[in-house]
Amino acid sequence: MLIIANWKAYVDQARRAKELAANAKRLASRSRHTLILAPSSPHLGLFPKAGKRNFQFAAQDVSEKSGGASTGEVPASLLRELGVGYVILGHSERRALGETDAEIAAKTKQAFAAGLTPILCIGERERDEDARYVQVLRNELAAVLDVLSPKERAKVVISYEPIWAIGKSARDAITPADLKEMVLYIRKILAQHVSKVTANKIRIVYGGSVEPDNIRELAKEGGVDGFLIGHASVDPKTFSALVKELS
Ligand code: PGA
Repeated sequence: MLIIANWKAYVDQARRAKELAANAKRLASRSRHTLILAPSSPHLGLFPKAGKRNFQFAAQDVSEKSGGASTGEVPASLLRELGVGYVILGHSERRALGETDAEIAAKTKQAFAAGLTPILCIGERERDEDARYVQVLRNELAAVLDVLSPKERAKVVISYEPIWAIGKSARDAITPADLKEMVLYIRKILAQHVSKVTANKIRIVYGGSVEPDNIRELAKEGGVDGFLIGHASVDPKTFSALVKELS
């Protein structure tokens, strides 16, 4: 499984970043899962060339431009040079700041051009009774998949993160049964963009209040290929507990 630790802006000291990374590296050396840490960009520079086997780094965003006159932007090639392997794109906290589907699509292209694997976040704000939330997922997926080549489509990691479940606690997260249903929906949508065989192989992870209390059930019954973990990933003890629950 993929265990993606999205540190968001929780970790603001290099000392803490190093401590968390050392802990995760130890966990990875004893785990069959792939651990992917996503610190704030400046902290990626603390671990140059660090990405190895099942212990990898991700950026939390990337520029939609390839470099040049773009003040404040971090181009994908720079991340790649640091040994970063993945990039989280379209997180709801970035979409809330105004990031559009077109920008996310452009960022995905940049990521692939530099050899990074995009982790594309999709998710509905609320679960309405008319199931309009399925259309939200359809639109968010189409906006990105439509600009990708068939090979690229097969490589994207999809992170399903219903906004209503983010930043709460295990009891507010999705239930394993609902997650299973959503993963099936997402695979159905994917099959409109790639072959059925590929749609079944694309990695889908879940994010939204994953904690030691619910990760095992979600893994067992949710039909996912891993998790994107926010608040529970920035405490070494809790993160260790999460990884142990999956072993
Ligand atoms: P959370 O964040 O684990 O803090 O809910 C998850 C996410 O941002 O997807």
